[in-house]
Amino acid sequence: MSIELPTAHIIGTGSMVPERILSNKDLESIVDTSDEWIRRRTGISERRISSTTRDEGTSAMAIESSLRAMDMAGVNAPEFDMIVVGTVTQDRMFPSAACSIQEAIGAKNAAAFDVSAGCCGFLYALSVVNNAIHCGTCKTALVVGVERLSSVINWRDRGTCVLLADGGGAAVVSSGKNDGGILSTHIKSDGSLWELLYSAKGNDFRPEILSDMDQKPSHLRMEGNRLFKRAIEFLTTISRKAMEKNSLSSDDISIVIPHQANIRIIQGMSKYLNIPMERIYVNLDRYGNTSSGTIPIALDEANRKGLIKKGDNVLLTAFGAGLTWASSIVKWSI
Ligand code: ACO
Repeated sequence: MSIELPTAHIIGTGSMVPERILSNKDLESIVDTSDEWIRRRTGISERRISSTTRDEGTSAMAIESSLRAMDMAGVNAPEFDMIVVGTVTQDRMFPSAACSIQEAIGAKNAAAFDVSAGCCGFLYALSVVNNAIHCGTCKTALVVGVERLSSVINWRDRGTCVLLADGGGAAVVSSGKNDGGILSTHIKSDGSLWELLYSAKGNDFRPEILSDMDQKPSHLRMEGNRLFKRAIEFLTTISRKAMEKNSLSSDDISIVIPHQANIRIIQGMSKYLNIPMERIYVNLDRYGNTSSGTIPIALDEANRKGLIKKGDNVLLTAFGAGLTWASSIVKWSI
């Protein structure tokens, strides 16, 4: 006798980025860099950095993204039985960003918690919720990926401060019996590679242009070159794993929403997966790398632009600090 497990479906998406744009030109006045170098080596033209004069902290971005996703899904807050947030830059050490969202939206029936998985936060959170829905312990959940990386950027380090930024997004995920939905999630990590990207205390330099920041930035360190090579390898292997698991070929993937770290990483992945760039959604030129925020922001943009249609196989794939890497294939069902 085979038991049919409930399937998880993404039924609404939302996102929010801060209003302030920090251009490559602006960065020229902070570190020894140039617009030309940043565009050529990363593909980034500008990014968003939150301000304390507006309500643009991690929780505020998460709450606004969640409300937008709920509006699209037509779901009310008391329906949630789980809120899972992928973030490494919550506003306070504890309690979690997820509990802030719970309070703000009135999701009184939800269990709320954060997961820390570097840039894979959103996909790790999606995996937790997908499994909870399969098990029947959860029916409707809010999955969020959000980051205020400006609070951990070392603004003296030109190798990192030009890459990272703030923003976030959310998805409402619901149990259903109809076709499609989340076909699989894969999550992996290798803690022995933690030194390739980490943040520790020890830096309080704030550039003049960001004088309204309320937090002392931490000292983010990254070995860009070593991470670059691993990124292409991990994105490729975990994406292949997802396709194999679902007996799908590259041709069956309608659109890829990858973590947005560097256009050359995305191009490398495109080559190894044999999926042309035309089927890969890129918005890092406008937002840079928002860590856990990149996938839900890009997913929401592509969804609202009508680039994802019912029945499409959407491949989500990420890598990040940990190191962590992850993928999911969603057969779009709305
Ligand atoms: N402007 C000008 N020159 C720069 C800058 C800059 N912003 N940054 C580095 N350089 C210089 C270096 O000092 C070096 O100079 P040198 O040759 O005189 O020593 C030269 O440019 C080349 O440096 P590389 O590090 O070899 O440059 P590369 O082409 O590898 O690009 C980059 C660096 C963009 C960081 C790349 O390695 C990368 O994208 N790595 C992956 C980073 C990543 O994805 N991080 C996020 C992980 S996810 C997360 O969890 C946040």
